[in-house]
Amino acid sequence: MLVSRGCSISEMSFRPTTKFGFATQNMTYFTYSREAILDILEVNHIGEDDEIVLPNYLCSTVIESILPVTKKIIFYDINSHLMHKQSDITKLLTDKTKLIMFVDYFGVETQLERSLQVQLENQDIIVVKDSAHAFLSVVNNSFHKNYNYDYLITSVYKNLPFQAGSIAIGNFGQRADFVSLYIVLKRFAVLAIKNTICILGLQRFFTEKVCEMSISNAIKINRSNGFNIASLYKAILFRIDWVRVAAEKKVLTQQFNSFFFGRPTFRPIFTREQIEMSVLQDYPLYFDSQTERDRMWKLLIDNSIDAYTWPTFHRINCNDKLWNKVLVLPLNKKVLKVLQSV
Ligand SMILES: Cc1ncc(COP(=O)(O)O)c(C=O)c1O
Repeated sequence: MLVSRGCSISEMSFRPTTKFGFATQNMTYFTYSREAILDILEVNHIGEDDEIVLPNYLCSTVIESILPVTKKIIFYDINSHLMHKQSDITKLLTDKTKLIMFVDYFGVETQLERSLQVQLENQDIIVVKDSAHAFLSVVNNSFHKNYNYDYLITSVYKNLPFQAGSIAIGNFGQRADFVSLYIVLKRFAVLAIKNTICILGLQRFFTEKVCEMSISNAIKINRSNGFNIASLYKAILFRIDWVRVAAEKKVLTQQFNSFFFGRPTFRPIFTREQIEMSVLQDYPLYFDSQTERDRMWKLLIDNSIDAYTWPTFHRINCNDKLWNKVLVLPLNKKVLKVLQSV
């Protein structure tokens, strides 16, 4: 596939068995993780007076899911290693704080200091581990809890070429699994159009403004509808050979490490140790300057590689300090081929 993120179908391994380690957990299936967020707010009776604490490096869809319920969103800082500082968070927690989210960026799981966990427990704050990007890491670690959380959400489709599907753990009341066929088909159709544009070499006509930071327009986050394919979705997931998928990703990541560590104008965002403990979704770099970042970005886009800056910000939260210098590379061999040839 030209522009799909995550591994391609041909790289995914299936095995003829219904044995699957991770499926023994109490999981609920959604079309998107944003729908799980809507349910978390509802099940926990979060209202307009409650405060929600979020990282300030975050996709607009998460904020849009919360805003109709409460406008009291407080942001904690994320640094250029995509980590938080415990003291920043501690200062923000009040007796109105109802929920806090920790994001596992690009596959690397966040660690939480013990004293912060104790404070969150004492204040009865709902902890959400947002592993939207880290599905393969949490599967590879058999959903091992490295800190205490009430909810885990993870978007399968950001790691595998399924185009939709999210798994969440935690109390969702009586909510039944639901994955929408309509959304899956719609997203496959969009992907087909994008690939056609790339095949025809027309992508440069659509990427003129690619280096401008994008701020999302307000969108209402709805629960998806249509024909429910949750059972089919699970049947496919349970047959994937996760060990092999993770191993292949790790080999590729090693090749990226060899190429990207020790360069003068940028650095991989994560340390070798963090990378080794994870199965990366994508490979983020941090540049000394925006000019250098944009140079590499344009080169990759011109070669039909879907490198991206992340995220699309919300108007109430624009962390341009990070956005200006981050480039996220899809983990595929073509990236290395293109960059090695210049
Ligand atoms: C960190 C994070 N959490 C949650 C979401 C929402 O995930 P989904 O697209 O499955 O609704 C996103 C979306 O990009 C995200 O980046």
